[in-house]
Amino acid sequence: MRVLDALNHIAEYDAPDLAYRWFCGSKMCGSCAIRMNGREVLACWEAAVPDMTIEPLRNLPVIRDLVVDRTPYERRVVAFEPWLERSAPYLGFPEPLLHKDIKNASKALDCISCMACYSACPVIRLGDLTDFAGPAPLVQLGQTALDPRNDPAKVRRALERSGIFNCVSCYKCEEVCPAGIPIVSQVIEPLKAKAAELLPAMATHPRVFRSIVASRGRIDPGALVLHIQGWRALTRIPRLFRMLFRGKINPLRTLVGTRTGAANAAKRVLSRNDAPT
Ligand code: SF4
Ligand code: SF4
Ligand code: FES
Repeated sequence: MRVLDALNHIAEYDAPDLAYRWFCGSKMCGSCAIRMNGREVLACWEAAVPDMTIEPLRNLPVIRDLVVDRTPYERRVVAFEPWLERSAPYLGFPEPLLHKDIKNASKALDCISCMACYSACPVIRLGDLTDFAGPAPLVQLGQTALDPRNDPAKVRRALERSGIFNCVSCYKCEEVCPAGIPIVSQVIEPLKAKAAELLPAMATHPRVFRSIVASRGRIDPGALVLHIQGWRALTRIPRLFRMLFRGKINPLRTLVGTRTGAANAAKRVLSRNDAPT
């Protein structure tokens, strides 16, 4: 028995007013996503177990019972203008596309818009604290933004509205995706690379991070804060003290600029240094 069968049974015999969504019953439409025992699943695909806690998806307003309002997601997707606008004329079929150039966009096309990833994302859970679009809208964006035929000006416009560098690469989204899409490695990371190329100012944090690792062979949160915030960082004394007491920063090590034995190897691997250290 699937979770959906259990829901249908409850709706038929115990709670006729139970609100839940489903359509295809076969992992195609994405409308039946819910949380079961604390994890995002498709009700039509997940096996029922004797003791189940069934909840609506998180990070979206609940309309009733298990039905959530998808408007925040749809608004984001529409704002991304998720269609292809060629910057060069159509050459006719078949188009000369290399597998390596289209493989990430093609992975994103497997998305069934179930919103499981959106529900699992801890950054989306922060609400208005960030302007992050979230994994599901970014996967929709990846379908066209990672297509080499798309107009870079249009991709730039969409990425500007994405808040993509708020993603902390925690992989929670990828863990729950029923379509098995490598959301982080094949969609979000390539989109971040595109944003760094088309909108360099947006990528200050990762560029400085990369530069510090390349020159010191290690992460140095103190240097990161100094390079990004400059002397403004000193106006946030309570925060700096909190970081110090938690062992997150070590001012001595930052100022001396100690290098580890891994510095040369790191520099070789991260050969492009875009920011001063
Ligand atoms: S990897 Fe990024 S998008 Fe995915 S859950 Fe984590 S923060 Fe959200
Ligand atoms: S990326 Fe996966 S989890 Fe996210 S909406 Fe698409 S199919 Fe669902
Ligand atoms: S009902 Fe369509 S994916 Fe579950």
